Amino acid sequence: MAYKIGIVGAGGVAAIHAAILANDVRVKLQSYFDVDAARSQALATRFGGHAAGSLGQLLQESDAVLVCTPNTTHEEVATQILDAGKHVFCEKPFALNLDSATRLRDKVMRSGLLYQVGHNRRFAPVYKVLKEAIEKNELRPLSVHAKMNRGELVNPPWVWNAQLTGGFLYETPVHMFDLMIFFFGKVEWVQAGARAHDHGELDDFSILLSFESGLQATMKTYAHASWHFPFERFEVYGMHSTYETFEMESISFTTGLESKTTTYDFSLTGMHEQWGYIEEDRLFVDALEGKSRVAVSAEDGYQVVQLIEACYQSAKNGSRIHVNALVGKT
Ligand SMILES: NC(=O)c1ccc[n+]([C@@H]2O[C@H](COP(=O)([O-])OP(=O)(O)OC[C@H]3O[C@@H](n4cnc5c(N)ncnc54)[C@H](O)[C@@H]3O)[C@@H](O)[C@H]2O)c1
Repeated sequence: MAYKIGIVGAGGVAAIHAAILANDVRVKLQSYFDVDAARSQALATRFGGHAAGSLGQLLQESDAVLVCTPNTTHEEVATQILDAGKHVFCEKPFALNLDSATRLRDKVMRSGLLYQVGHNRRFAPVYKVLKEAIEKNELRPLSVHAKMNRGELVNPPWVWNAQLTGGFLYETPVHMFDLMIFFFGKVEWVQAGARAHDHGELDDFSILLSFESGLQATMKTYAHASWHFPFERFEVYGMHSTYETFEMESISFTTGLESKTTTYDFSLTGMHEQWGYIEEDRLFVDALEGKSRVAVSAEDGYQVVQLIEACYQSAKNGSRIHVNALVGKT
């Protein structure tokens, strides 16, 4: 019997998930709810299912719910879904401050329900190559530089508004923080400098991250570059080895002083696969089937929020911040 999926928020990213899940025979796209009813109807017409008249109706008729609403609504909407006893997939960010992240993580743990956070980049082919090299010990990271710029804070139309995004780091660079922990483990402390260039929020960060393993990484992120490549890149250095990603299109590596360079090029794979969306959705349905644990847990989401909060604190008071010293109120 197919799992009945509801989708809350019927904008850009909801259309991506609906397109992917419409091709999964284990799933029935049941209903959509958006505060703009025309948007729910548009997704129902494109991908099947129907527009629900309320969130309550959607919850009644779904086994699991995808949350694709703006960042500020995630905790509230996810909480209503958990209270209804339904499994959750919620887009990034997990939460917008430590209190919220702590409340939500603890609620998920008490509920016994599945909760997957939408950190899709873990499943992008370029990042899977990098992760596998680290896991197989083909690459022992000793030094790292990462960058994630945005071209603009214009699309979608609320993305410039820190009251709605939670702040620039919670919007796009949030993916990089998740990857940092995913690849290199827990961060011990951060030291960040930041400036504001537009809209009055900090939108240009230079960050030093020191991991519990002793590894150090630098990260640069700026909101108003352009979409000129490169805007997203990891450079990971081992002993006489270099791995370098180019957006999510390709990864090149050299594993010795005189060895050849290998490149895996994913530039012709469709965007849904290249950005990891297809695999993250498949893994969520696998978890619903009990085949595996959720691929990105509430605890993973919490750790990213903790790291981002440490970066903001460091940028604001100029000091080194120990990440684990930050705790939220329940
Ligand atoms: N993982 C990724 O790569 C990725 C990419 C894009 C967006 N996102 C995340 O997905 C979320 C949605 O982004 P988007 O680009 O699709 O935005 P969007 O503006 O295109 O869509 C959001 C939709 O939610 C609706 N909405 C707002 N509040 C609501 C509520 N309380 N209940 C029901 N519907 C509500 C809006 O009317 C709108 O249709 C954001 O949190 C964003 O950070 C993730």
